[in-house]
Amino acid sequence: MKTVLLAVQILYFSSQVSAVDPNLPEIPENFLVGAGSSAYQVEGAWNVSDKGEGMWDRWTHNNASYFGSGGNGDIAADSYHKYKEDVQLLKSMKLDVYRFSISWSRVLPTGSPYRVSRDGIQYYKNLINELLANGIVPFPTMYHFDDLQSLMEKTGGWANESMVEYFADYARVLFRELGPKVKHWTTINELNIYCGYIFYHNETDPDLAFSARYRCVHNQLKAHARAYHIYNEEFRSTQGGQVGLVVHSTNYVPVVAGDVESSKIAFDFDTGWIMHPIFSMEGGYPEVMKQRIAENSRAEGLSSSRLPEFSPEWTDYIRGSSDYLGINHFVTSVVERVPKRNGRWYDDLGLRRTQLTTSGTRIYPEGIGAVLRQIRDEYYNPPVYILENGMAEGATFNDTDRIYHLHFYMKEVMSALNDGCDIRSYAVWSLLDSFEWVAGYTQRFGLIHVDFNHPNRTRTPKLSSYWMKAVMEGRKLIPIWR
Ligand SMILES: *[C@@H]1O[C@H](CO)[C@@H](O)[C@H](O)[C@H]1NC(C)=O
Ligand SMILES: *[C@@H]1O[C@H](CO)[C@@H](O)[C@H](O)[C@H]1NC(C)=O
Ligand SMILES: *[C@@H]1O[C@H](CO)[C@@H](O)[C@H](O)[C@H]1NC(C)=O
Ligand SMILES: *[C@@H]1O[C@H](CO)[C@@H](O)[C@H](O)[C@H]1NC(C)=O
Ligand SMILES: *[C@@H]1O[C@H](CO)[C@@H](O)[C@H](O)[C@H]1NC(C)=O
Ligand SMILES: *[C@@H]1O[C@H](CO)[C@@H](O)[C@H](O)[C@H]1NC(C)=O
Repeated sequence: MKTVLLAVQILYFSSQVSAVDPNLPEIPENFLVGAGSSAYQVEGAWNVSDKGEGMWDRWTHNNASYFGSGGNGDIAADSYHKYKEDVQLLKSMKLDVYRFSISWSRVLPTGSPYRVSRDGIQYYKNLINELLANGIVPFPTMYHFDDLQSLMEKTGGWANESMVEYFADYARVLFRELGPKVKHWTTINELNIYCGYIFYHNETDPDLAFSARYRCVHNQLKAHARAYHIYNEEFRSTQGGQVGLVVHSTNYVPVVAGDVESSKIAFDFDTGWIMHPIFSMEGGYPEVMKQRIAENSRAEGLSSSRLPEFSPEWTDYIRGSSDYLGINHFVTSVVERVPKRNGRWYDDLGLRRTQLTTSGTRIYPEGIGAVLRQIRDEYYNPPVYILENGMAEGATFNDTDRIYHLHFYMKEVMSALNDGCDIRSYAVWSLLDSFEWVAGYTQRFGLIHVDFNHPNRTRTPKLSSYWMKAVMEGRKLIPIWR
């Protein structure tokens, strides 16, 4: 019975392709629509061949209890073995682009660029070839949260500046090995989230938590810029691609109507933290970050600000070091002022931020338009690739909430495009149900359902994937039905 109903709904979507609705936007031919994934979340094959140990391998094996539902990425969706099937799924939806990531520990098992894993590189060559053979643009990210365990042990993590050159060496290997067939590179995913995850807020010891966080982003920005310049100096003339990075961009709405100053400060401490050093005229961190963090540092008796400063050389080296901006957008938060206490700003920024949307509960499509327009207005309208947007649902095939989400977010993106925002892509997070980090397998973001209890990790298209296919067939949004 369920299957019959689903079939009826699929027929309904097919019939929408020819339905003329002048109010629904068209998707321009050169605009890339796609779906995404990341290595640790889908590949599995954690110990094949000469692959090194990743930080998440170690963490999930040693700290299973931390992953509420248990679980790890040992097998995940097994995309390492099933990549051809995944490419066919992308193709079945007529998607233009696949945004995926490369596992550092699979390519450089020891971290040394002298020890490139032939099998590791071959896997990504196969995936890229398979995508190209099926007319899908490969859009790889070099680093999506998945550090090499041995480098973490050697350096203590990204708060250590020596990570910059380890990353530069890795980037060069990828450009050399895979660059001939890749035109869109992303260096680092969500610097602001990664550094926030690893170095949590700590009210009792703000210096400890925040200074490590700031140094982490500082070093990731340098690492990104190193990769960008290596591309310019050694590969761009022959490979002719683009290199950028990804920010997780939250939309901030003031609690007190009209308090635009607060939402601007919150934006500067989040998207601006990553964008300002690269996309502003003057480079370096946003002024309000420099001021407030210096004030708090002084109030705590530190002799210098815990926000590191770029030397003039690094400022110049980082400024302009991106051909585009990648954004991931999921969240709208409300912000309210918190007065200084004992001479300190709350949380360094002086604001309390509270999430209004959480993946899977409430949607706020205006949020994506708001960040796109703010990026356009504050940073000279850079080319923007939206690389993640979507929502989690439980284990259902009838994911009408996801269709609702995608419809309204895509509509908002098209509206921002019409308002002159230079947007080049929209990739759904995610292609497949995946290992969602600390949420384990409980949050399902996929257009495609994966049976994690089946040894074959069977893939089944959800209703949203048929909706997506119908959209892509007409390159025009279609109505929703729920
Ligand atoms: C899917 O959900 C919609 C609305 O929630 C419902 O009307 C429809 O019957 C469901 N279809 C199936 C196959 O369960
Ligand atoms: C790889 O890990 C699996 C568990 O996921 C284990 O069963 C298998 O023995 C390991 N293989 C090797 C070669 O270590
Ligand atoms: C993770 O496991 C290690 C080794 O068992 C332990 O020392 C550490 O405290 C654990 N960390 C967390 C966050 O549970
Ligand atoms: C930083 O990493 C290097 C290895 O590259 C290590 O020798 C050094 O001790 C680390 N510094 C800190 C503070 O952990
Ligand atoms: C916060 O810092 C204090 C003091 O250094 C420490 O005792 C505590 O464990 C930290 N809390 C967390 C959650 O890291
Ligand atoms: C798993 O997939 C293979 C290849 O597609 C198939 O031959 C096999 O029957 C499947 N196993 C099960 C248990 O479904």
